[in-house]
Amino acid sequence: MTLEVRRPHVRLTRLGLRNFRNYEGLDLRLDGRHVCLYGSNGAGKTNLLEAVSMLSPGRGLRGTEFAELVRQTPEGDVAKGWALSADVRDGEIDRRLSLSLDLDDQGRSKRTARLDGVDTAQGELAEVMRVIWLTPSMDRVFAGPAGDRRKFLDRQVLAHFPSHAGASAGYEKAMRQRNALLEQGQKSRGGADPAWLDAIEMGMATAGAAMAIHRVDAVKVMQEAILARPEGAFPKALIDLDGAFELRAADGMALTDIEQEIASQLRENRGRDRAAGRTTEGVHRTDLRVIHAPKGLPADQCSTGEQKALLIGLILANAQALFERDFAPSPLLLLDEAAAHLDSDRRAALYDELTALGGQAWLTGTDRSLFDAFGDRAQRFEVSDGIVREN
Ligand SMILES: Nc1ncnc2c1ncn2[C@@H]1O[C@H](COP(=O)(O)OP(=O)(O)OP(=O)(O)O)[C@@H](O)[C@H]1O
Ligand SMILES: [Mg+2]
Repeated sequence: MTLEVRRPHVRLTRLGLRNFRNYEGLDLRLDGRHVCLYGSNGAGKTNLLEAVSMLSPGRGLRGTEFAELVRQTPEGDVAKGWALSADVRDGEIDRRLSLSLDLDDQGRSKRTARLDGVDTAQGELAEVMRVIWLTPSMDRVFAGPAGDRRKFLDRQVLAHFPSHAGASAGYEKAMRQRNALLEQGQKSRGGADPAWLDAIEMGMATAGAAMAIHRVDAVKVMQEAILARPEGAFPKALIDLDGAFELRAADGMALTDIEQEIASQLRENRGRDRAAGRTTEGVHRTDLRVIHAPKGLPADQCSTGEQKALLIGLILANAQALFERDFAPSPLLLLDEAAAHLDSDRRAALYDELTALGGQAWLTGTDRSLFDAFGDRAQRFEVSDGIVREN
């Protein structure tokens, strides 16, 4: 008999909220099973998923500014800040994660992140768990603009490499500086200061090379996880990066060589980028190509339902890839309104797959019956106007 040894999976055992969105206060106790949230539109289901998503680097699944998360009463009163805390069980170990925003009367804000009661950076919470999600706004990701796909890609990558968040932000910031400098240079006769441009472009090159390497690595393990999945309700995808520097990274080019290539491309492109008013080439233009493998069709040519199934398959594969990473803690999966779009067989298949994956998934839907096929593998909560009741 072979005994399967699996790494312990991270689960939330408690979620506490204060003045977060439509929650004045919440102390939600969880027994470690999957979490199903049901209730009418506007009840606060997605807000709960959003709260959990804030425990990963960045601004959560809606990408909202921290200050907008502060609870506002129907009378228009705004609280002095918000707080969220979560108890996380990692095998036998209990950890406490918390995040808050405090506003003073002058409108200044202070963010605090704590790990086991000790101040830390929000990004450090990723050492305890990773969070990945699927939201209805991603439904158009294959058919929409490349920028949306890149954002989706980078979110998946970030779950593998939390430092991807800092690299992307650093790259974008340096690119804005470069564009502004080129524009100023066009207005003033002398042109932009070349030494300053060199420094900015070197910053872009350092961040961009790291981004390319992260993307290639994450896409590779995702693809392996997709191919290792059994045939089932969610079709397999062939995924591939469309970007010159990712191609170099995939060919095994060293980080410092990719940096040099990015820097020299930026230098060469100065004239044309000045004329275009933007940086025309680079990792900020990379696209993710997705093919529906059984049909051999590009994802954007598939039906709405097929695209949704592909997307769910991708997220499940990424969760699987993360479970298998020995350097990363396991992920929590947030699936907003995923169940409602599936026929009952696919819904049952999704719950089976989530259970086989292990770990904890959080799902939302308007009706309790959407989760019937989970049986006793999930805890169910009714959400109504910012109040959550186990039911
Ligand atoms: N800062 C805030 N303060 C108070 N209420 C807020 C704030 N931000 C959002 N809300 C309210 O939270 C409510 C619940 O939003 P949420 O998106 O969680 O609903 P939902 O249960 O997911 O609904 P649906 O089924 O339509 O997706 C909305 O009515 C919204 O107006
Ligand atoms: Mg919702």
